[in-house]
Amino acid sequence: MGGCVKHECGQTSPVICDVHEYLKADNKVSEDGLKLLDSHINGETLDYATFDLLKDYYVDEEGDMAWTSQQLDLIDRFGINNYLIGQL
Ligand SMILES: [Fe+2]
Repeated sequence: MGGCVKHECGQTSPVICDVHEYLKADNKVSEDGLKLLDSHINGETLDYATFDLLKDYYVDEEGDMAWTSQQLDLIDRFGINNYLIGQL
């Protein structure tokens, strides 16, 4: 509808409206998050409940990153327009 989405309550963060740029940014968030989780899972003595929670989170995020990487690969192979048509 031609509007621009903005977060104005508290610290601002950009809203990425371009699908390809969004997927790249989301992949980077997953990559950074997995590194952070890995450092906590492997670098600290955790109680069992926290370890299980972080492990489940890691596995879930790994799945998210695999999906996003696959979408980026499809865009690289077929182009953004063909990718978007394939999503219909
Ligand atoms: Fe995620």
